Amino acid sequence: METIRGRTSHTLDLTELQARLANYNRILLDLGTGDGKFAFCHADKFPSHFVIGVDSCRENLHKHSRAKLPNLLYAIASAQTLPCELNGLVSHITINFPWGSLLESLLHGDSRLLCGLESVANLSTTVDIRLNGGALAEQGWSLEDGAERIFENLASAGWKIYTPELMDSHALRAFPSTWAKRLAFGRDPRAIQLSGCL
Ligand SMILES: C[S@@+](CC[C@H](N)C(=O)[O-])C[C@H]1O[C@@H](n2cnc3c(N)ncnc32)[C@H](O)[C@@H]1O
Repeated sequence: METIRGRTSHTLDLTELQARLANYNRILLDLGTGDGKFAFCHADKFPSHFVIGVDSCRENLHKHSRAKLPNLLYAIASAQTLPCELNGLVSHITINFPWGSLLESLLHGDSRLLCGLESVANLSTTVDIRLNGGALAEQGWSLEDGAERIFENLASAGWKIYTPELMDSHALRAFPSTWAKRLAFGRDPRAIQLSGCL
């Protein structure tokens, strides 16, 4: 898979990836990682977890991907074609404030995304998806209806999703991602968190 550090990309094969992951038993995939701040903060706070931030857009990743944390890696990939090197390895998936084709795939129950998530997961994988009102409005959905549709699509794909939780401006302000901060001070500071497991 294509990984990135600063402006330099490197193709990491399965053997190299397994060597990097060897001493970690909890692997977090942050899909649609944006500038990678959430992945960086998690890796910094939990040195025993290995964090992989994935985004289809490389430009925003230049800053945080320079970080020299041993338990942090950034990869360039589309959510609809996740790298097969990750198959069966991921213990926790986060998708924070998706927009564009990532959000569309969640809303439409796109099998390329849902099968990909299932492929990278294992029997004890958990998921947290945080959806914001503005991104859903751009796709023609209210926050509540969009979250409900995504809840149903995940449930149909075999995920057990718990009761959705509302995130208000305080929760967004406290959340360690760049987009959460923008939302917290924007026009519609609301999000819904869907958490669950396979
Ligand atoms: C609103 S930003 C959120 C970024 C970050 N999660 C945060 O909380 O700051 C949404 C991100 O989803 C990424 N994205 C959209 N469609 C994608 C896709 N199909 N595959 C991978 N990433 C995608 C975008 O490039 C963008 O970085």
